[in-house]
Amino acid sequence: MKKYYKLLIPGLLLIGNLTLAQTTLKKFNPGKIWPDNNGVHINAHGGGILYNNGTYYWFGEHKVEGDAGNRAQVGVHCYSSKDLYNWKDEGIALSVSSDPTNDIAKGCILERPKVIYNKKTRKYVMWFHLELLGKGYSAARAGVAISDNVTGPYRFLKSYRPNPGKLPFYPAGTPESEKVNVANPANKSDGFFCRDMPGGQMARDMTVFVDNDGKAYHVFSSEENFTLDIAELTDDYTSHTGKFVRVYIGHQTEAPALFKRHGIYYMIGSGCTGWAPNAARWFTAKSIWGPWTYKGNPCKGNESEITYGGQSTHVLPVEGKKDAFIFIADKWVPKNAIDGRYLWLPIEFNGDDISINWRDSWSLNDFKK
Ligand code: DGJ
Repeated sequence: MKKYYKLLIPGLLLIGNLTLAQTTLKKFNPGKIWPDNNGVHINAHGGGILYNNGTYYWFGEHKVEGDAGNRAQVGVHCYSSKDLYNWKDEGIALSVSSDPTNDIAKGCILERPKVIYNKKTRKYVMWFHLELLGKGYSAARAGVAISDNVTGPYRFLKSYRPNPGKLPFYPAGTPESEKVNVANPANKSDGFFCRDMPGGQMARDMTVFVDNDGKAYHVFSSEENFTLDIAELTDDYTSHTGKFVRVYIGHQTEAPALFKRHGIYYMIGSGCTGWAPNAARWFTAKSIWGPWTYKGNPCKGNESEITYGGQSTHVLPVEGKKDAFIFIADKWVPKNAIDGRYLWLPIEFNGDDISINWRDSWSLNDFKK
């Protein structure tokens, strides 16, 4: 009997290895369970992806089971991949604190983490939307953490509301009527802007974007989500410089994702309906400082009015492929947050216009050569 077990165990391991080899993924299957190298559904929601030295790193919210799972019980999860289909679990990159007085205390809300690499300081910089423990969504802060290693551990630096006391930057030619009148705010969003000027602007759903010249920008829903701010970061990427523009003022926009193609800036976002899906929207500009033009819904076909059940989080340029950009969205499952799904879809270009179509299954080979 003993001998039998000795044979059986390596046999099982072999079968295990074969099973893993057979399940190597070669396609994206939007909305389906996405197993990592351990066969566990990837747990990196509201995420962003950094390409670094031949490897992609996916950072996202680690959710737990049940409806409390949308609060940060663990931290930011990191995965790595060479091919974008198969992801290795790299563990928790930023852990929440067991000290309830810490800004990133266990049970706080820590959403939409994004990591960028600073060539000058050689640090990896993680930005995220932070809500302090027990305060709902009222704190509306930007949080930042840094690391010497891409997969972490990241060290929490600070959290705050950006750009206190600062007025927006107005590109030459901005009509006076479009400038915020601090003495007499013209509308609701200008009112929120003025209300928050002393302590800094609200910062909720967010992304970060690094331009070709190495300058980085923090893009976030502000003014009770009625405006998007695009704000310049300092050279070390860990603070705001005070220079920012307000985009699509007076409309509630969340879930910004920014990318650049042929010198043109693109931003995709969503409306504001909690965890429920709504129509995506896109914007374009010739300069990061605008003017940004609203272009409507990039999604086409069935369920395009609800972004196929998802909400944008990131647009990923595919390395080594010309004009290949992947639209990445979360299909939230608020009653069991850990079961949230990922929708990855190719962005299609018609001249400088974009569109997104549903695919049950697709691969990088589907991009035009
Ligand atoms: C939608 C946002 O995009 C998410 O990140 C999250 O903040 C939910 N709202 C909360 O309802």
